[in-house]
Amino acid sequence: MTKEVLESDVYEVFERIQDPNLVYPDYYLNPFHAYDEGNISWLVAVETEPATMSIAKRAIPEATPIEEASQIIRDNWLNVIEEHHLKYSGNSQVNDILDIGCSIGVSTRYLTEKFPSAQAVGLDLSSYFLAVVAQREEKLSRPKPIRWVHANGEATGLSSNSFDLVSLAYVCHECPARAITGLVKEAFKVLRPGGTIALTDNSPKSKVLQFVVGASPTTFKTILSKHAQEESKALTRKTRILDVVYNSSNNELVRTQTLVNSAIVQVDAAPFKQWYLTHCGVDIGRKKKMHVAKKDATEEQDGEAIVEETKKSNHVQKKIEKRQQDRAVDTHIEEQFGSGRLLACISARPGQCGRANGYILEGKELEFDMKKLQSITHRK
Ligand SMILES: C[S@@+](CC[C@H](N)C(=O)[O-])C[C@H]1O[C@@H](n2cnc3c(N)ncnc32)[C@H](O)[C@@H]1O
Repeated sequence: MTKEVLESDVYEVFERIQDPNLVYPDYYLNPFHAYDEGNISWLVAVETEPATMSIAKRAIPEATPIEEASQIIRDNWLNVIEEHHLKYSGNSQVNDILDIGCSIGVSTRYLTEKFPSAQAVGLDLSSYFLAVVAQREEKLSRPKPIRWVHANGEATGLSSNSFDLVSLAYVCHECPARAITGLVKEAFKVLRPGGTIALTDNSPKSKVLQFVVGASPTTFKTILSKHAQEESKALTRKTRILDVVYNSSNNELVRTQTLVNSAIVQVDAAPFKQWYLTHCGVDIGRKKKMHVAKKDATEEQDGEAIVEETKKSNHVQKKIEKRQQDRAVDTHIEEQFGSGRLLACISARPGQCGRANGYILEGKELEFDMKKLQSITHRK
């Protein structure tokens, strides 16, 4: 791969893309990721993709092949973006996407595939990265080829109010605080009213990263935050697919229980219930009083029981109490916990191997699919 790129016409593409007048911010000229020239070199440009893959594999070691880890992380990211945009944009379509800090275009390509009718722009400070991806993309025949822009994300030179979605994926951890402020300000400037800024990053303290475990055989993600802009409580769990209940395009696929992308299925709620029990001390979906250790301290709430255990330290107890205060679950999800089954949507079906990735339905998407299911039941 390295040799193939370095012996190609990538240098001509580089000349076309590079803005020779671009002034790099100071931090960008420092050695970085063990490369003396930071991100401004051919070597880092050709080695970045395998490095990105290996980071994903480290987050989800069970995933095989290595591409599956990347697919799971990106699918979760894209689904959160799509869901947020649906909820808060007044149903406006994503027509224009800006991917700030696109590097060698991995995030840009995922975004383009999720929103295929949109025009995407990938922007980065490294013309080396951009040349590598632009050269590769020139061989593809996308209906709307991605535009590659060599610029500083803090001052893009792009028009105000011109993008429906601005992404900053894994960029901020490479920048000092003042640059992050500049990047976010610029993102707001170029964003259309009602648009979405998607900021995602790695942090060793991130609960999200800690929860991104257990990738196969079947992985499901649920977002348990009351608002998409709050700290995400996303978690990923393996679970069993119990039933295929709805397919918007073909009823025959429901009758034959065929797993295809976007099929609505019921999955076993137990792994998620267990997470609630250990993380928040809540036996979600259970109505009866539970008698665990301290009978009189057991409290009944609507549709759930708070479980108290005697052996928890004060520190752990306080943590759990804090989580109980912050916790907010979609009422429809809470009801489903009672039946032991959750509705989920298949988002990726890698091969015909009986495994699938997906996410637990919630919010408007859940309401929509529940209505569809009810209308089918009434017709029968
Ligand atoms: C880890 S990479 C991002 C990877 C990519 N977005 C993805 O999700 O695969 C971080 C990128 O941010 C770019 N970058 C850092 N500071 C920037 C700035 N001020 N403006 C534009 N790009 C910047 C770097 O050149 C690098 O390519």
